[in-house]
Order: sequence, then structure tokens, then C-alpha cells
Amino acid sequence: MNRRPRVFVTRVIPDAGLAPVRRATDAEVWPDELPPARDVLLEKVRGVDGLLSLLTDRVDDELLGAAGPQLRVVSNFAVGYDNIDVPACTRRGVAVGNTPGVLTETTADLAFALLMACARRLPEATDYVRADRWQTWGPLLLLGKDVHGATLGLVGFGRIGREMARRATGFGMRTIYYDPVRADAAVEAALDATFAPFEEVLAAADFVSLHTVLSDVTRGLIDAAALARMKRGAILINTSRGPVVDQAALAEALRSGQLFAAGLDVTDPEPLRADHPLVGLPNCLVVPHIASASERTRDAMARQAAANLLAGLRGEPLPDPVAG
Ligand code: GLV
Repeated sequence: MNRRPRVFVTRVIPDAGLAPVRRATDAEVWPDELPPARDVLLEKVRGVDGLLSLLTDRVDDELLGAAGPQLRVVSNFAVGYDNIDVPACTRRGVAVGNTPGVLTETTADLAFALLMACARRLPEATDYVRADRWQTWGPLLLLGKDVHGATLGLVGFGRIGREMARRATGFGMRTIYYDPVRADAAVEAALDATFAPFEEVLAAADFVSLHTVLSDVTRGLIDAAALARMKRGAILINTSRGPVVDQAALAEALRSGQLFAAGLDVTDPEPLRADHPLVGLPNCLVVPHIASASERTRDAMARQAAANLLAGLRGEPLPDPVAG
């Protein structure tokens, strides 16, 4: 390519990644806090050689067609890529990259923070103080669940699930996990984690934490039946993708006391409005999809997304390719 490649970056990302992209390309960066509307996105990608997308941008056959045959690479600023039709990209010879690895521990940190906050009812406790309801030390005040000694059930035992298991060892928890692919015995031993069938993980865990991709298999995986299978008074943590959980069933389980609490970093849809039933429940802690949101990790993701984009534009293999 003799001219500078044209790229569209769908949001302002940290300068650690934006600066190299600007240096090497003719980049248009969407400046708003909100993503471009669909029709605007389709217009903006017309004629670009590369697209740096976010998980809020749907990259499908329609978009690829609107971009045109010169498009070489889609670099997603996220580890998850359920927003991208990867087979459609592969059919059109468009490379796809994501940002695995760098956000693993930061995401596990947030999942564990949600677990602890739900167990010890931190949102309710801070609301209580803010509402000036704190009168005295109370023997029955805001009683929660112990984390130490409890059983952590992981659904999905990839990079992030394993980091959850590592954190659990420090809290004296017992970890059981389900994953379609069982981990090596050495990994299980190092993380003190035991494989169990999905239903058994649900039934035995005091905390169930979801670390699966969103796929046709996992959509709605935590439905009314799965919630009923969980221990009464268990806690659900979701930092994977919102549609893995049936939210109406979850709200019912939280109201009835079948679940003690839930901590959600991801919802369906996103954003979840303040008048949504889950947001109004005192035992549901919802945060706005911030699991990877630390300064250092977002810088690292930006560098990784830029490296994928620039490699794809040069026609080189991406450092972090997504297989079609
Ligand atoms: C965030 O959800 C990501 O997939 O990186």
C-alpha cells in the first residue's frame, strides 16, 4: 500500500494505543462518549483499510460490505469478540484481533471484589450510613456470608476463571469448576481446583462465578432451572456477558431468597437503566461493565489493539489473532 492506510477508531482509547495508530495511519477517531449510531458507523467505515472496534460495535456482514473489499483488519479493544461475526470476516479475508492476557488479572480482581462486596453487603452498608440510619453496633446488623471456608464454583476455567481460583486459595476457599475442556492435572493441583459437572458446580457452590464466552451454548445458561439448582442462599457473580444469565429469573431468585445476592458487571442490555428491577433490588450489585477498567490495563489493551491493527494493515500475522 503506497498511501497511508485509512482507519476508523470507534472511540477514544488511551493514548498508549491511539498515538501509534495516529502516527502510522490516516486515522479518524470517533470523539464522543457514546458509540457511533449504526448508520453513522456504516458510513464511517466506507473505504477504510482497518477498523479499531469496541464491544459496543456490531461487526457483521453488513458492516464488512459497507466497508468494502480493501478492509484488511478488525482489531477489537476487548478480549471478548461476540460483537464480531468472525466467520464473515474470515470469508472476506479480514483478520480479526482481540486483547487477551493483559486484562486477565484485573478482571479477576473485579470479580473477586464483587464476590466480597455481595458476601458482606457493602452496597447496603454504605447506603445505610449515607442515609444516616447508623445508630449503634448491632448484633444482627447487616449480617452477610463468610468468604473464607466457602466453596467457589467457577463456570468457565480459562484465563480469568483460573485467576479467580488463585485468589480463592488466598481466602481459604475450596474451588470447583466446570469447563467443557478439563484442565491439566498440574493446573488443577496448582490452583487447588477440582473439576465437576456443571450441575454439581451449581449445587455445591456458595459462590458461582461466570467466566464463559457468550455463544449459542452459553446464552441463557443461568436460567430459572440453573438458579433453582444452586444452593439456597448462594451468591452469583457475572463478569462474562449479560445474556449468559436470564435476568427475569435472576430477579425472581433474588426476591425469593433463593439467592442471597448477585454481583453483575455485565447485563443485557447494556446499559441497564436505573428503573430496571435488578437495579432496584438491595441484594443486587450492578456495576457498568468495568472489569478491565484499571489505568494500567486499559493502556495495555490499547497498545495490544494498536499492535493488532498495525500488523493487519502491513499484511502481517496479528500478535493476537482470533481464529475464524
Ligand atoms: C470486556 O468485556 C472484554 O471482553 O474485554
